[in-house]
Amino acid sequence: MKLFYELDYRFFRMPWEMGPRKELVKLVEGGRIVPCRAIDLGCGTGSNAVFLAQQGFDVVGVDFAASAVQKGKQKANHAKVRVQFVVDDLINLQKVQGTFDFLVNYGTLDDLQPKDRDPYLHNVLRLTNPGSWFLLWCFEWSLRWWERFPFSLALEPGEVERRFGEYFRIERITGRTNLSGWPRGFGVYLMMRRPKKSKVKEEGSCWAGNTKMRISLSQGAVDFENSGS
Ligand SMILES: C[S@@+](CC[C@H](N)C(=O)[O-])C[C@H]1O[C@@H](n2cnc3c(N)ncnc32)[C@H](O)[C@@H]1O
Repeated sequence: MKLFYELDYRFFRMPWEMGPRKELVKLVEGGRIVPCRAIDLGCGTGSNAVFLAQQGFDVVGVDFAASAVQKGKQKANHAKVRVQFVVDDLINLQKVQGTFDFLVNYGTLDDLQPKDRDPYLHNVLRLTNPGSWFLLWCFEWSLRWWERFPFSLALEPGEVERRFGEYFRIERITGRTNLSGWPRGFGVYLMMRRPKKSKVKEEGSCWAGNTKMRISLSQGAVDFENSGS
């Protein structure tokens, strides 16, 4: 897959090299996402990263295809903005330090095979803090068996919730299924990293006279379980 991208970017203009993506532009120009420290995961030739830098974001773009990053640097120079481009693998990130307030992923997670999606998530968690935003665009439809080989082409419906739901509050901002066209479906999600779980014990019980009380912080409840004699 890496070689495929290296060669394609070197010799062709890819169909997704179409400028900054519309959902991203809308979120930023509409003021929902404000300038902050941002990273584009699988940035390709850098259109989203350059757009963010033009809007005042402090941006890192990471991609494992050096030929894409090279084009991204030229694009940033041409636009006279600063983007830090990094060649690295999202399933084994080595060169990206620190955390980010806004993560962008257009068409990268769906490129990863299911076994690589957990290590990817692990890296995403390392790059975020509670309150960090994550804009995810992915191919998404119910794959037929032949669409899983040799590569899985898309996420399954519900997969975003299953993988990210424990860590992120998830809003599906748009999406479409079109089983007779291409792509056969996609989803766009805006997610916010949840607060870290409290280490305080959330449940316990105690006796008040003859009455046992069960206390649950998570449900904000106090139950009177049973009375003694
Ligand atoms: C379909 S392209 C989308 C590029 C860009 N996000 C855009 O919208 O123009 C997917 C990108 O993910 C990159 N990519 C795929 N797997 C990767 C990995 N494991 N680590 C880093 N980049 C990866 C590819 O090199 C490619 O640039």
